[in-house]
Amino acid sequence: MDSISGNRRFWNQISGAYQQKHDARIGATPRLWGTYAIPDTHLRVLGDVTGKRVLELGCGAGQWSRALAAEGASVVGFDLSEEQLAAAARAMGTARYPLVQGAAEHLPFAAGSFDLVFCDYGGLSWAPPHLAVPQAARVLRRGGRLVFNVASPWFEACYDEAAGRATTTLRQDYFGLDTIDEDQGAVSYQLTYGDWIRVLRGAGLVIDDLIEPRPAPEAANGYNKTDPPDWAHHWPAEALWVTHKP
Ligand SMILES: C[S@@+](CC[C@H](N)C(=O)[O-])C[C@H]1O[C@@H](n2cnc3c(N)ncnc32)[C@H](O)[C@@H]1O
Repeated sequence: MDSISGNRRFWNQISGAYQQKHDARIGATPRLWGTYAIPDTHLRVLGDVTGKRVLELGCGAGQWSRALAAEGASVVGFDLSEEQLAAAARAMGTARYPLVQGAAEHLPFAAGSFDLVFCDYGGLSWAPPHLAVPQAARVLRRGGRLVFNVASPWFEACYDEAAGRATTTLRQDYFGLDTIDEDQGAVSYQLTYGDWIRVLRGAGLVIDDLIEPRPAPEAANGYNKTDPPDWAHHWPAEALWVTHKP
């Protein structure tokens, strides 16, 4: 199924409200991962990016991209939504970086163009992984890394749509997660752990780590309610995959 046009429309529609609600938290300091804003200095994932060619796959308003550009990376911010890219352009600091509009399913970059491709709930949450992962692998140079953070299957399976929160009851069929209907006809994607491994290995990538970020008990989720409030201290809400192209 092609979700490109629906997801583009969705993100164009919600961009203003989304940034009003979340921008301050996402961009509070450089390099904050996920819905609990866990610093990369704690997780130690991306490392030194100085001088590296970096692609953010679904950069939104560019909170990550502008931080890495300021650190001396040669960053491309890539996103499906013109409105999100316009927000990134408005927020760009003195470290300028290019913004490119397109879909993670069809990356408009030559093979081997990047040292690092990454996203935080970006193109690998909103494009079919069996299409987006091979594209990301193609544009990486040998030795380059694909690093991305997505919601965990635990979180999705325990999410109670009616109550609007993650609970301690399994609500969705783990084996049936696959596509998740979002508002206004948009679609996001989720795989089982086994399917993620097969998609990543199938694209020729080596899996170096699967980090399951664990927020402190009192840490707030900036996006979703959970019951109990410290849900993610007990179960993994997110999956941060660390891979490279051999
Ligand atoms: C949750 S935001 C991620 C950006 C940022 N990390 C954040 O948390 O706001 C998801 C982004 O993915 C983009 N997106 C959705 N589908 C995409 C696709 N097929 N290819 C590239 N980007 C896509 C959206 O436009 C949106 O800006």
